[in-house]
Amino acid sequence: MPCSKYWKRIRKEPNMAENQFTIQSFKNKKEKGERITMLTAYDYTTATLLDDAGVDSLLVGDSLGMVMLGYENTLKVTMDDMIHHTKAVARGIRHAFLIGDMPFLSYHISVEEAVRNAGRFVQEGGAQAVKLEGGPPVVDKIRAIIKAQIPVLGHLGLTPQSVNAMGGFKLQGKDIEAARQIIDDALLLQDAGVFGIVLECVPDGLAGIITEKLDIPTIGIGAGAQCDGQVLVIQDLLGMYRQMRPKFVKTFTPGGDTAVAAVQQYIEEVRSGKFPAKAHSFLMDEALLAKLR
Ligand code: KIV
Repeated sequence: MPCSKYWKRIRKEPNMAENQFTIQSFKNKKEKGERITMLTAYDYTTATLLDDAGVDSLLVGDSLGMVMLGYENTLKVTMDDMIHHTKAVARGIRHAFLIGDMPFLSYHISVEEAVRNAGRFVQEGGAQAVKLEGGPPVVDKIRAIIKAQIPVLGHLGLTPQSVNAMGGFKLQGKDIEAARQIIDDALLLQDAGVFGIVLECVPDGLAGIITEKLDIPTIGIGAGAQCDGQVLVIQDLLGMYRQMRPKFVKTFTPGGDTAVAAVQQYIEEVRSGKFPAKAHSFLMDEALLAKLR
């Protein structure tokens, strides 16, 4: 954006060479025992804030269906929705590794469609990798996407696109058989070549065992502290999404309450004439004004 006396640039121009977090950085961090930080983002402005804060990776999650579009779950999210938001986030990033989340039905129908849709995230959206939910039923698609040189992040445990099949948003891997299945699925995905696995809503001990068994990093959400990294939905971290709050969410700031209070103050100041003040107005030369009058 061109700047002038009245439009001040606060953020520096993007410079992609700056300290980029790459696919290799995931592996390096696991080897060094350093925790990986990941957050969701769905728009340009938020992406700039999270990137400036120094987060390692941004995920354009299909959770945008709930927190941005107001659906009750993620199932109505389309490829076009995802590409639209991924493009916006990509424009705001200088440092973080960008992952696009493949929405429901974008990788279930055929291997060809899965590769084409994963390619759209990279070619149109500007993502560096994609995420897919599930184990054995999608492993052929994962292998094909990786063969097309697109890195894949796996996602096991609670996979929200299976909400109907799972009978709701529930803790997964509670009994021995279910836990063993998740361990086997994690090993299968590692063998298929994923660079990491999101573990959602599983007991922390199970996440710990998986994390120990794998050479690739685990990224937990509701999976305890033993994972190699953590991911949260940014609206949850900031307290902006007030419709529901899972047990695993920590609200780091009451952003929703702060926003409501700020808007209430705006309404009050507009009504009382306090805003805009002179500081927010373009003043005209008094002599000119007199002539005009
Ligand atoms: O869609 C999403 O935001 C996700 C994360 C919660 C991992 O899948």
